[in-house]
Amino acid sequence: MQAISGTDRDNSELFDVALEAARAGAAVIRKATAQREKLVWETKSRSDFVSEVDKASEQRIAEIVKRRCPDAIVLGEELSPSAVFSNGIVVIADPLDGTTNFLHGYPEYAVSIAIARDGVVCAGVVLNVPRDDEFTAVKGGGAFLNKQQIRVSSLREPGRALIGTGFPFKTIELLPQYMTQFSLVMRGTAGIRRAGSAALDLCNVARGSFDAFWELVLAPWDVAAGMLMVQEAGGIVTDLEGNPARPIAGALVAGNPAMHAWLLQTVRRANMSKGQSE
Ligand code: IPD
Ligand code: CA
Ligand code: CA
Repeated sequence: MQAISGTDRDNSELFDVALEAARAGAAVIRKATAQREKLVWETKSRSDFVSEVDKASEQRIAEIVKRRCPDAIVLGEELSPSAVFSNGIVVIADPLDGTTNFLHGYPEYAVSIAIARDGVVCAGVVLNVPRDDEFTAVKGGGAFLNKQQIRVSSLREPGRALIGTGFPFKTIELLPQYMTQFSLVMRGTAGIRRAGSAALDLCNVARGSFDAFWELVLAPWDVAAGMLMVQEAGGIVTDLEGNPARPIAGALVAGNPAMHAWLLQTVRRANMSKGQSE
């Protein structure tokens, strides 16, 4: 395969790199599944673990990027987390999203790869490893699950909505604020799910299984590919202020247009009512 260079390469070339890298990372994880119980867990911070599998997956991803896109910067969770999200080509990689699920054999984990050009994410792949489902998107070209186009749901009634979320388990001081939000969302909807992989949560919004999703503490590699998936599937992704989301660390609200608006207003109302009660 020929290496590509310069920022003028087209989005489909970048997408091919993301797909090859995601498949290679997934192969590393799959191979390690049988050895899962023997793996050593390193603790990065409270409730935040990593094993040699996360690192080996990222190593493969980085090798593929280096071979096919030698001038690209890799912003990867385990091996290059402080790389700068700059101009040019940046590959934003989570080599295993849902590490805790993987370590426990709970089948909800993925490889997530996004490629940005001059600050704009233009290709994304989220590969659900246990199910071998490939979520793919190219900017302006729609979002797909195993090559079938996907769309966000059209549900508009909060009382029927299914909402995805992630807990602020690494930032426990946010728990009171989050619990107020959780309470309001639960009272207003049909249900809330916490599956443990933000990349897959966003894909579940893109395919219309979740009507919306929110989480307070996320990293660029958790969300960069999934955000593109939601946008290309006709959904909205913002920060908690309602500004268009960027692939940076922080909070995120995503959903179909109607449920995004409802969820954003609801979590913001929770913040206000918390402020008033203090
Ligand atoms: C985590 C998962 C989880 C989310 C956390 C992430 P990791 O990623 O996406 O759903 O709640 O904020 O850190 O550590 O499994 O790659
Ligand atoms: Ca992650
Ligand atoms: Ca990870």
